[in-house]
Amino acid sequence: MPALKVPRQEAEPVKRRLKKLGLYDGKRRPKREDDFVFLPVIEDERVYSLGYEVLPIELPFRPARQIYKNLESVLAERLSREELKHLRRYDVIGDIAVIQVPPELEHRVGDIVWGLRKVHPFLRVIARKGFHEGAFRIRDYSIIWGEKRLETVHRENGVEIKVDLSKAFFNPRMKGERYRLAQMVKDGERILIPFAGVLPYALVIARYRKVKITAVELNREAYELGLENIERNGKRLKGEIEFIYGDAFKVLPELPTYDRVISPTPRGVDALSLTLSKAEKWLHYYDFVHEEEIETFRARILEECRKLGKECSVRVKKVSDFKPHVFKVCADVKIG
Ligand SMILES: C[S@@+](CC[C@H](N)C(=O)[O-])C[C@H]1O[C@@H](n2cnc3c(N)ncnc32)[C@H](O)[C@@H]1O
Repeated sequence: MPALKVPRQEAEPVKRRLKKLGLYDGKRRPKREDDFVFLPVIEDERVYSLGYEVLPIELPFRPARQIYKNLESVLAERLSREELKHLRRYDVIGDIAVIQVPPELEHRVGDIVWGLRKVHPFLRVIARKGFHEGAFRIRDYSIIWGEKRLETVHRENGVEIKVDLSKAFFNPRMKGERYRLAQMVKDGERILIPFAGVLPYALVIARYRKVKITAVELNREAYELGLENIERNGKRLKGEIEFIYGDAFKVLPELPTYDRVISPTPRGVDALSLTLSKAEKWLHYYDFVHEEEIETFRARILEECRKLGKECSVRVKKVSDFKPHVFKVCADVKIG
């Protein structure tokens, strides 16, 4: 993702100018190197005409916690310390903020809306989030402020992703995972992504690598949005994406094997054997696992590899908290 290489003495004024122009990418941290500072900027034609070198450079993301802290400090004006303890993390997806409001803050919904709008003046919709439901993993939302829509365009990792939270699953917190996988992928790879949703993984990887991706999705509305996203990102993508509408359990057996398989598995679905059988070099398998079961999960994958006659090494990475003691994890399975 782009960064502007600026002499150290000029860093502060340039940063202010970038912010004024709406070109500064506040989600990443700047980095100092010798007499220069790399300032994170968004993908935009205008950054190339500022008179500084623009480089594709890896800058660390600010933890979401820090963004949340801003809301906390704004709300400290109105909420008691006790009430602030109940404040939950929230997400900003395009111009929509989604937040969970616990019963202890039910009477403070108006203040929370005020605080979110103060921290993020560009918001057009604020919604409360419920739980993911059904096979398509769609959340239940209720709009508490703004326009009556759950459709927006989210910008992440240099791509634009059209989402409709009322029709298809999307999780902005997986941004770091998508970036991590894009870094692991090499040009020339053939990649399979079942359970592909509106294509966030496929778009981010194709943005940075010249690869051939086959993606599969069963929710018709997610599939339509995914097709729109391929069009929308058009020339930005180095790689190619073929998108298949259908049930992964029926479609995959008909497909060949791939260098890499990425399985953002829906909760409660067991696609381990199916996805492993399609992977030649790597499988990245997402699942939800109790912290005491992580070793058992690893052993299960190794056993599955053995059954399929594959030599594997497995590293299980905790990706996010799901509920107390249960994590969303990614098993990076290296084959051969
Ligand atoms: C956890 S979501 C991940 C979506 C997307 N990869 C993302 O990260 O935003 C799982 C996705 O699998 C889809 N899905 C569920 N069962 C499926 C099946 N049998 N075949 C293909 N897709 C399926 C759901 O509609 C949903 O979009």
